[in-house]
Amino acid sequence: MKTLIKNAQVVLPTGIESVSILVEKGRIAAIAPAIQTAVDEVVDATGLHLLPGVVDDQVHFREPGLTHKEDLTAASRACAKGGVTTFLEMPNTVPAAKTQALVDEKLALAAKKSLVNYGFYIGATPENLADLKTAKNVPGIKIFIGSSTGDLLVDGQDALERIFAETTLPITAHCEDESTVRANAERFADTADVADHSRIRDHEAAIIATRRTFDLAKRHRHRFHLLHVTTGAETELLDDHQGLITAEVCLPHLMFSVDDYARLGTLIQVNPSVKTKQDRQQLWQSLLSNQVQVVATDHAPHTREEKQQNYPQSPSGMPSIENSLALMLNEVHQGRLTLSRVVETMCDAPARVWDIVRKGRIAEGYDADLVLVDLELTRRVLDEEQVAKCGWSAWHGCELTGWPVRTWVLGHEVYREGQFKTDRLGQAAVFDHKRGGYWATGD
Ligand code: DOR
Repeated sequence: MKTLIKNAQVVLPTGIESVSILVEKGRIAAIAPAIQTAVDEVVDATGLHLLPGVVDDQVHFREPGLTHKEDLTAASRACAKGGVTTFLEMPNTVPAAKTQALVDEKLALAAKKSLVNYGFYIGATPENLADLKTAKNVPGIKIFIGSSTGDLLVDGQDALERIFAETTLPITAHCEDESTVRANAERFADTADVADHSRIRDHEAAIIATRRTFDLAKRHRHRFHLLHVTTGAETELLDDHQGLITAEVCLPHLMFSVDDYARLGTLIQVNPSVKTKQDRQQLWQSLLSNQVQVVATDHAPHTREEKQQNYPQSPSGMPSIENSLALMLNEVHQGRLTLSRVVETMCDAPARVWDIVRKGRIAEGYDADLVLVDLELTRRVLDEEQVAKCGWSAWHGCELTGWPVRTWVLGHEVYREGQFKTDRLGQAAVFDHKRGGYWATGD
């Protein structure tokens, strides 16, 4: 199958250009101002922009074990609709993915169900060092230094030292200090006010744990990726991180602050918690200055009924994968960042951080994971249109300008204006950790 995409404004690593793209055998075969060749399909993309598919490096798709909240079929459709062509999934499923066999089970499930490409982290426990040392076909090791949904937790210093000292895969972590969170939770033991979530999972909890992991990474010279930065103080810690540490910010923390609890209640209860408007402002600055390299969703769905329980019975997490690109394109529309920066942070950087082969940019020889977006299209996010299984969005009713309209995975069209094509599935992402991560490969 040969496809020619012509007349699009294409977001290339070097800038935005009006070029044609030839897709052949699942890869980008040629990029040129005009391509003359016989093809099976011509896509006239006049008025639209072509982006590399989004690589989301932090999602919770709940399979196996929690499929009443989400599953790989629904979640990967949500990806296709949202322009996400590769996802990296966290290990806090049931059972937690803490051995190679359990990771392989997830890979096998995805091979049968996922419309888009996939990868699965291996989760650290205080006892599975041997599994972490030998893990294969994973983006890296995930450590919950503070507990969140599920039972994964490693907060003892000895266990952390050994993981950083004895493993070679890149490490990533959920950074909230367990003892600080527990002490705060005792102080607010009688609360039913969800706004106290940000007082329990407070600034200090985030900063203590982040500082701890930076210290471990630096002493052991171990590649480290900080998940969901939430505080301005953490962004300051990122100043001297070049060469070893990368960082991610997630949609809930970029888009919401403690001021939104009054309007949205437990829908914006997430771990780490949302912080102040000023923190949010600093997150945006860090994103623009490349102190933070990656934007992800932390798509963490729970059912509406679960979320409607009173705090603190309500679980933490929100869905966002099918709107993440549109939310960021809307920020482009509002002039907050450029389209090229969206592509750098949502496509290129995550692929480089995790050494994903042939993904994250539009370049000859790269996989044809592509998304066509209409920067002029204005539409509302509506609960009833969500394809993620939980069927709600904290952005319900919001009008956004800039939406994905067509998505290709490995050259095969999987989504077009509300319709899915499910006859071909995605593939396991390939991780080549010898490449050395984000800092090794350039700017
Ligand atoms: O809010 C969150 N929900 N944060 C996490 O770290 C886990 C996630 C989940 O799996 O529900």
